[in-house]
Amino acid sequence: MVSKQSHRKDEHVSLAIKFYDEKSHAGFDHLRFIHQGIPEISLNEVSLESYIDKIDLDFPFYIEAMTGGSEYTKKLNQSLAKIAEETGIAMATGSQSVALKDSTLSDSFSIVRETNPNGTIFSNIGASVDVKNAQKAVDMMDSNALEIHINTPQEIIMPEGDREFNWINNIKEINQNLNVPVIVKEVGFGMSAETIQLLIDNGVKNINISGKGGTNFSKIENYRRKEQELDYLSDWGQTTVESLLETKKAHVSDDITIIASGGIRTPLDAAKAISLGADAVGIAAPILYSLIKNGEDETVRFINDFKDGLINIMTMLGCRSISELKKIKMIADPYLQNYINQRNIP
Ligand code: FNR
Repeated sequence: MVSKQSHRKDEHVSLAIKFYDEKSHAGFDHLRFIHQGIPEISLNEVSLESYIDKIDLDFPFYIEAMTGGSEYTKKLNQSLAKIAEETGIAMATGSQSVALKDSTLSDSFSIVRETNPNGTIFSNIGASVDVKNAQKAVDMMDSNALEIHINTPQEIIMPEGDREFNWINNIKEINQNLNVPVIVKEVGFGMSAETIQLLIDNGVKNINISGKGGTNFSKIENYRRKEQELDYLSDWGQTTVESLLETKKAHVSDDITIIASGGIRTPLDAAKAISLGADAVGIAAPILYSLIKNGEDETVRFINDFKDGLINIMTMLGCRSISELKKIKMIADPYLQNYINQRNIP
């Protein structure tokens, strides 16, 4: 018998694939780079190295949190771990909260470390898990960092979801007591300057604004309901671009790492996210879609093409490093400029 929890994990995968849109709706089309005709650089001078907290990354993008918690998603995690190892990119798993409640599911996560013993791996839990269990999640995969996801709209739309969202003290406690860096991430609803500031004021150093415009969990959870009456929430949240702009309104000092995810579909989307201040970007559904539809080898190629695409764009912009790309200013169209004006983004 497949448990309710495992069934839900499988459904998330099948619905994310069903609703997958290869076009981003995360706001990147509202921005453009200024072309530089004589960039005075050669392709082989470009470095993609970046970092999250104390963790060095060879590439500024990674496989974002998705799966685990069932037999099927164990296989997916194993494939994703192989792909991560072959391409040298980091990888997060889906929420381990299910395995903390039912230890028979923990092998669907530990397989990731077994498959990729030297890789950079991020654990993932919900924001109500206590410190002891947060450490257990990290130990399960000997992870390099822990992602804590915040997902109020998703829980609200799920009939079986949480109904209490007093999270900040728990986040603060985990952040103070864990032996690896902590990243607080959204799941595709984005963040406001107020949320970002609250996290920073409580000691959080790594923030993944995971915005609207890619995988849409209000759509996915609404589809899972018997009565699909909450469709009116399907546009809730700030896009990834809006959320990155919100970081400019908060007091983000140099020791804070900003990560972008949500609707990163092309190297151009990633480059724009970095030039809006992200140190790294997470890609979820496109990698899962590629794996399920085209297999491991094609997905390795997709990721390697993504690296080349970023190098091409950085070359055209004359940027030798991610820190140089972060300094490039883009032009916003009137629609986005209106958001910038109304939210008083500096
Ligand atoms: C997710 N996501 C997610 N996030 C998280 O923090 N914990 C989780 O368990 C999951 N589970 C999950 C399952 C599946 C099938 C998908 C596609 C996604 C959210 C994910 O990490 C990311 O924030 C969003 O998917 C937005 O990125 P993309 O998909 O638009 O690239």
